[in-house]
Amino acid sequence: MNDTVEACVEALKAGRLAILPTETVYGLAADAARPEAVAAIFEAKGRPRFNPLIAHVADPEQAAAIGELDGAALKLCEAFWPGPLTIVAPVRAGDRVCDLARAGLNSVALRMPGHPEARAVIAAFGGPVVAPSANRSGRPSPTTFSDAVAETGTFAAAALDGGPCGVGVESTVVSIVDGGVSLLRPGAVTRSEIEALVGPLSDKGQGHRSPGRLTSHYAPDAPLRIEAVSTAPGEILLGFGPGVGDPRWSLSPTGDLREAAARLFRLFREADRESPSGIAVSPIPLEGLGEAINDRLRRAAGFVG
Ligand code: TXA
Ligand code: MG
Repeated sequence: MNDTVEACVEALKAGRLAILPTETVYGLAADAARPEAVAAIFEAKGRPRFNPLIAHVADPEQAAAIGELDGAALKLCEAFWPGPLTIVAPVRAGDRVCDLARAGLNSVALRMPGHPEARAVIAAFGGPVVAPSANRSGRPSPTTFSDAVAETGTFAAAALDGGPCGVGVESTVVSIVDGGVSLLRPGAVTRSEIEALVGPLSDKGQGHRSPGRLTSHYAPDAPLRIEAVSTAPGEILLGFGPGVGDPRWSLSPTGDLREAAARLFRLFREADRESPSGIAVSPIPLEGLGEAINDRLRRAAGFVG
């Protein structure tokens, strides 16, 4: 299964699903305006409840037609689009991103992906495309084409191979609904990069305001232990930094947070294939992209964020 941009556009126009590459993780995409198509996504993912989805757009003009992008939002778009930043804003045109896709909220999540082939599909399709990560619910997000097809390929009418995802963790989600900018989900664009533009972020009560951030969302099958400084028998250690554990299982032998983010979910999957008694992960620094990595690790380990 490896189709063209055109085949993906045809699938979306027919109300069917398409697996699309993005720079963060692979997405399972549908026409944002069609509730039946959006429902097919929830079905394919086996989601326990309807979480609001991100509407992916080809350009900022398309985003501004769907949501109310104010001064702070426009600054962020200009700085980080195309790229791994999602902006939640008051909805303007509710018919373009249907109620089911917004989980009935009067806000809408907007993102212009950095991956050129994702944008090519959206532009040729001519409207917003919702796309949660292409994994089954509760499993790590796929960061390679083959992992995406293995997870949800049977539910997709088309799938586009855009190579391995460069970023490897989901986009940062910020909300600009009530004047201030708050961080709903840490991700590839870091808190300090955003604060440099719009001032201090608030992330109080983020668990309530970003529905669907289930603790188990990012979990591998094997029990996960974080901040590990040694391993128990049968455990695989995902190390970080020089000389920590087996380099084959290292998130980044050089201690590079970008590399660690890009390898995280893939190593979860590869470790699971070895059926270890558990997966232990070395401490990861909290700065920069480390905030998003630690967030995913805490959830995967069963701690409520
Ligand atoms: O990197 C990504 O963003 C990937 C790729 C495929 O683009 N997509 C992705 O989608 O991670 P998903 O559905 O797994 O995550 C959407 C996130 C959730 O945390 C959801 O709660 C939040 O966005 N969200 C969406 N609409 C929202 C809204 N109106 N208010 C608050 N949070 C919202
Ligand atoms: Mg997801």
